[in-house]
Amino acid sequence: MRFQDKVAIVTGGAGGIGRASAKRFAEGGAKVVVADLRRDAGQAAVQEIQAAGGSAMFVPVDVTDYDSVSSLVRETVDTYGQLDIMFNNAGVFGDGQKDLLSMPIEEYQRIVRINQDGVFYGIRAAALAMKERGGVIINTASIYAFIADRRQLPYHATKAAVVGMTKAAALDLAKYNIRVVAIAPSMIDTPLIDRWRSDERVWNSIRKAQMRLQVGTAEQVAQVVAFLASDEASFVNGHEFYVDDGAAAFKR
Ligand SMILES: NC(=O)c1ccc[n+]([C@@H]2O[C@H](COP(=O)([O-])OP(=O)(O)OC[C@H]3O[C@@H](n4cnc5c(N)ncnc54)[C@H](O)[C@@H]3O)[C@@H](O)[C@H]2O)c1
Repeated sequence: MRFQDKVAIVTGGAGGIGRASAKRFAEGGAKVVVADLRRDAGQAAVQEIQAAGGSAMFVPVDVTDYDSVSSLVRETVDTYGQLDIMFNNAGVFGDGQKDLLSMPIEEYQRIVRINQDGVFYGIRAAALAMKERGGVIINTASIYAFIADRRQLPYHATKAAVVGMTKAAALDLAKYNIRVVAIAPSMIDTPLIDRWRSDERVWNSIRKAQMRLQVGTAEQVAQVVAFLASDEASFVNGHEFYVDDGAAAFKR
């Protein structure tokens, strides 16, 4: 099994992409820590993994708080003895889409704290635990790090920051044999994009943004996350990996 004797943390592990990735890691033999703000949904994810014969535990975390992220890593190492894979995946899109001039400053700051500071804290806390043995850190960016849409400035800014941090961290952590990579999904069918499902016109335009006119699934993203975390990707470092059915590769 490709993650035999490995220990993985997944932040945002109660949500769509995180939960699917936690399941993949566990299927590969990893001991998995599902970490999220949402306790009930996180525990449900753990039960699902255990029911399928995998090893997992839930640890509550708020990625906007460095002490909380640090405790998550400490509890993981105390319980399972080590940390090999850190998937910094928790993120939000933001409440409603607001024009640059009408967006409350607090909303901008809230998204920065979760999507950007949260990833930095995860990289730092994980690297401190990995520096003796090496490891892999995967960060969830988005194709919206590279292309812009209207009224979503904080999301674009923070996902671009995740890409920049991934490159800089990979360089700083190379001496510890820690790889750092990012994924850049397009529209993936998770609760994050549920708000648009009821409007047929909007949902159709979302579908058409992919080359084969369908949104992706969390499992399709999880397969790529598992590949990047595995030894099969041992020479992949410092880059983002598009999981977007070509969405960022063509002019709409
Ligand atoms: N769904 C998409 O279309 C899509 C596309 C590109 C990137 N992404 C990114 O994928 C990641 C996962 O999103 P998803 O689509 O699975 O959405 P989701 O809403 O299902 O999952 C996000 C999870 O993050 C958790 N979370 C939010 N704030 C947190 C905090 N402060 N501390 C800890 N956990 C917190 C939520 O409770 C939730 O379980 C996000 O970073 C998102 O930006 C999603």
